[in-house]
Amino acid sequence: TISSVGAQAALVSKPRNRGISGLKASYKVAVLGAAGGIGQPLGLLIKMSPLVSELRLYDIANVKGVAADLSHCNTPSQVMDFTGPAELASCLKGVDVVVIPAGVPRKPGMTRDDLFNINAGIVKSLIEAVADNCPEAFIHIISNPVNSTVPIAAEILKQKGVYNTKKLFGVSTLDVVRANTFVAQKKGLKLIDVDVPVVGGHAGITILPLLSKTRPSVTFTDEETEQLTKRIQNAGTEVVEAKAGAGSATLSMAYAAARFVESSLRALAGDPDVYECTYVQSELTELPFFASRVKIGKNGVESIISSDLEGITEYEANALEALKPELKASIEKGIEFAHK
Ligand code: NAI
Repeated sequence: TISSVGAQAALVSKPRNRGISGLKASYKVAVLGAAGGIGQPLGLLIKMSPLVSELRLYDIANVKGVAADLSHCNTPSQVMDFTGPAELASCLKGVDVVVIPAGVPRKPGMTRDDLFNINAGIVKSLIEAVADNCPEAFIHIISNPVNSTVPIAAEILKQKGVYNTKKLFGVSTLDVVRANTFVAQKKGLKLIDVDVPVVGGHAGITILPLLSKTRPSVTFTDEETEQLTKRIQNAGTEVVEAKAGAGSATLSMAYAAARFVESSLRALAGDPDVYECTYVQSELTELPFFASRVKIGKNGVESIISSDLEGITEYEANALEALKPELKASIEKGIEFAHK
C-alpha cells in the first residue's frame, strides 16, 4: 500500500522522504517502442520523474518528433532519440531500466494471444540487443501476450548467458491499478488507500484479483466478487471495444508502467519499502512464471510475497486452479518459440 501511494506521489510531485538521503536524478531509462500509443504518454510521465537523468527513446520510426517535443519540458532529464536497429545499441548502453512497449496492440475480437506471431519476434530481437548492451538493467516487458513474451525474454537471456531472474519483470501493474479503481468505486473507498493484489498472469482468466486480500479490509458478497473479478479480467477488452479498432489501453497503461518504473527507480535508490505485483520467474506455484506481489530492491526481486496466497477464499482457490493450464500453455508456447 505504502509503496503504491509513494509511487503515485512521486509521479506528480517529488518522492516522499522515507529515510533515504540523496534521492536525485541519476538514472537512465530507455523506452523501446517510444513513438507508440503507450510509448508517448509513458515518455511524458517518465520525463516528470525527479529520479531520471536520461530518457532514451527508441522506435523504428517517428521518434525524433516525440523526443523534440518532450525535451522542452523543464524537468531534469535529458531526452535522447534513437531510430532503427542501427541505433539500438547506443540507446541501451549504460541504462538502468529498459521498458518495452514495442509491438502491435489488440483490435476488437482479438485475444492477447492473437498478437503472439508479431510481438514474439519483436520482443526476441529487442531482448537480444538488451542482452548484448545492458545485461544488468531491470527489464520491464509490456508487449503482449505478457504471459508468453516474458518466458521468451528469459530464454533469450539464458541463450546469451546473462539471465538474471531477479531483473526480468512482466508489467501487470495495470491489473492492480484497475482492481484498485473498481473496488474503490464499488465500495465507496478513498482511492489512494485501496490496494488489491492481482496474481497469476496478464490475460483473461489468468488475471486473478485476490479481493479477499484487499487493503483496507473490506467484505464482498459472492455476487460482488464474481462481478468485480470478471470486470478486472475483461477491463482491457472494455477499452479495446470502446476504442473500436483504434487500439487498446494506452493512457492507463502508461500511467501503470510509469508507476512501475518509479517503483523500480526508488528500489535502485535504496528505498527499503518497495512492493509491486509483477509477473516474474517464481516458485510460488508449480508454474515457472507467476505474477504476485514482490519486494523490489537494488538488485531486483528481493523476495516473492507468499502470504497473499495463504488463506484465500474457495472462489479464489478454484480460480487459481482454473487459470493454471492456460498460463502453463502460454509459458510453454513462449519457451518453444525462443528455441525455434
Ligand atoms: P502501438 O502500435 O501504438 O505502438 C507500438 C510501437 O512499437 C509503435 O510505435 C511501433 O513503431 C513500435 N515498434 C514496432 N516494432 C518495433 C521494433 N521492432 N522495435 C521498436 N519499436 C517497435 O501499440 P501500443 O498501444 O503502444 O501497445 C504496445 C504493446 O503493449 C502491445 O503489444 C499491447 O498489446 C501491449 N499492452 C500491454 C498492456 C499490459 O498491461 N502489459 C496493456 C496495454 C497494451
